[in-house]
Amino acid sequence: MTIHRGLAGVVVDTTEISTVVQQTNSLTYRGYPVQELAAHRSFEEVAHLLWYGELPDSGQLRDFQARERAQRPLDRSTSELLARLPETCHPMDVLRTAVSFFGAEDATEDDGSPAAHRAKSLTLLAKLPTVVAADQRRRRGLDPIPPDPELGHAENFFHMCFGGVPDPEVVRCFEISLVLYAEHSFNASTFTARVVTSTLSDLYSAVTAAIGALKGPLHGGANEAVMHMLAEIGDPRRAEEWLARALADRRKIMGFGHRVYRHGDSRVPIMQDALDRLVARATDPEATRLAALHTALRHAVLTHKGIHPNLDYPAGLAYHLMGFDPPAFTPIFVMSRITGWTAHITEQLAHNALIRPLASYAGPDQRAVPTVAG
Ligand code: CMC
Repeated sequence: MTIHRGLAGVVVDTTEISTVVQQTNSLTYRGYPVQELAAHRSFEEVAHLLWYGELPDSGQLRDFQARERAQRPLDRSTSELLARLPETCHPMDVLRTAVSFFGAEDATEDDGSPAAHRAKSLTLLAKLPTVVAADQRRRRGLDPIPPDPELGHAENFFHMCFGGVPDPEVVRCFEISLVLYAEHSFNASTFTARVVTSTLSDLYSAVTAAIGALKGPLHGGANEAVMHMLAEIGDPRRAEEWLARALADRRKIMGFGHRVYRHGDSRVPIMQDALDRLVARATDPEATRLAALHTALRHAVLTHKGIHPNLDYPAGLAYHLMGFDPPAFTPIFVMSRITGWTAHITEQLAHNALIRPLASYAGPDQRAVPTVAG
């Protein structure tokens, strides 16, 4: 029996949503190269593409945006629940709890149809940024700022976090990260969502489980871990020495390596370009120092270990330069990946087969249960 640990190299199903094209080292969403989508399309348009299979026309986009903007506010019971959660818990725990609570509160009929799932998906797309922004402000000792229906999805997130919208170039860099994070085929969290869905459980349960899978530092938690790693190294001149010790201790270098890409993550060049633009416009010398350290570590890892950065490496520093706190980085990833997860939930249901693999047993041979005396 061949054992595929970590399901490496195993093809478990078909999908029409996205694929990594190894020959051209590119990722496509519904056939469109993600680099082109990131350069020319908004996150809302990409969400529509992932859910409906096509980019929206202007009327469809207006309708999509109106529905998204209308659903951003949180009701009182959600706000009260979130306020009760300890600040010692990670923001991913807050988000996971919020989605579970949305599920408990949603009394609408779920007939399992794509239309019902898309309506719930849009609700999550609209509300998750409100949760993330309120939680970041709470940890800074600040009151939440209500969403502004006059603002686009990305602009509104900055408004709810900071009470203002930065320069359009910063908003654009953020939106590029959302487009790049939106979907990535059968990654661990998406597969988790598909496993839960395959039992015919509900969408909120699948998304709650997916958030749990994304939280880990080998997956989405890596973008936050990148900032902790840069803080630990501290100085660009220490990058080589720090790396040598980390590799000797068999530590994983956060933001490097990928199960699917062996010669570089196709999303990195466009995110690195966005990061370079953020660095170029930063006036704080701290930004220049961090950028130099980021570059020094990238060169050192490539030279000494031959491993390329993944999307989390440039995205982590980019989010820091945009003003977000590191514990909010992975929740931002969720705000984006909710589109891919829910597209996969709908697809799984359309051709469902219970996901239930086998294991090769390596425990003790069968034995008799000892009888208990007396
Ligand atoms: N640091 C040090 N060594 C590494 C790294 C790394 N980041 N990535 C891979 N390697 C080494 C690994 O130690 C192994 O070496 P050896 O054969 O000598 O034992 C070899 O490369 C193969 O690695 P692997 O762990 O078998 O590869 P994998 O496909 O199981 O792991 C990974 C992929 C993403 C878990 C791993 O690269 C890793 O832990 N990276 C750091 C965490 C990270 O950045 N995660 C984000 C992933 S991409 C975005 C996302 O999905 O969220």
